[in-house]
Amino acid sequence: MVIGRVEGRQIGRHRGQALVISAVALVLAVSAASGSLAAAAVQPANPQPGDPLPACAYRQVTTRYTAYGDWKMTLLDSRERVSSDYVPPDLVSVGQADIAGSGRVRAVMIDDLRAMAAAARRAGDGIAVRSAYRSYADQAAVFRSWVRQHGYAAALLESARPGHSEHQLGLAIDFRSASSSRAPWDYPDWARTGPGRWMKNNAWQYGFIMSYPKGKTASTCYEYEPWHYRYVGRAEAAAVHASGEVLRRYLWDHFETAPEGS
Ligand code: DAL
Ligand code: ZN
Repeated sequence: MVIGRVEGRQIGRHRGQALVISAVALVLAVSAASGSLAAAAVQPANPQPGDPLPACAYRQVTTRYTAYGDWKMTLLDSRERVSSDYVPPDLVSVGQADIAGSGRVRAVMIDDLRAMAAAARRAGDGIAVRSAYRSYADQAAVFRSWVRQHGYAAALLESARPGHSEHQLGLAIDFRSASSSRAPWDYPDWARTGPGRWMKNNAWQYGFIMSYPKGKTASTCYEYEPWHYRYVGRAEAAAVHASGEVLRRYLWDHFETAPEGS
């Protein structure tokens, strides 16, 4: 059952799922209301080696790797963020990768994006870009629109708050099928379409990881998003794939808590 839409995005596809989402959202809202959101002060992240992955709290912690050159290691989630003036210096049009759709991404991914789009085309499962880089202000507008339509608690699971989105890194893309301009979230499960399945099985070989896989909300902090991929480069993506971990946990374990100077 469809219970709502935001910018065409279908949520609460089944009554049971809607109830689960509501319950999770309630817990998150209570935790958010208990003070962390009100405390807007940005604290530096200072995790120690071996620290476990933190719960999905809503904080304003400056992530550890904020240099543009450290892009592979930058972890963003519901607690960790970059500042409003984080704007990658090498944004280029996705058209440079010979892929349909519009938007900008960091130049560091263009060669792999081009290779991935060509491979998907050869397989008969063409992909296109639905949404790419979003500035801090863009993300604020997106988040506000979710809040307007579904309320704050639900929005927290559907959209990153400004400063917390991988789209602001210029390293995340929401893909869609090349054969149709239909939004990927308007399918019951885009990963069950040809292009979505091709991406799920093959994107890692080109450096892209699905950030928010199915059934992992407790670790990823967001609902399942089979269309949202984060670029980390081929070597790192192969390591994430082999680990079987979600990207958030991988970045936390391997970089965020790494000893100084390692
Ligand atoms: N929808 C993802 C979480 C974002 O807003 O970045
Ligand atoms: Zn996305």
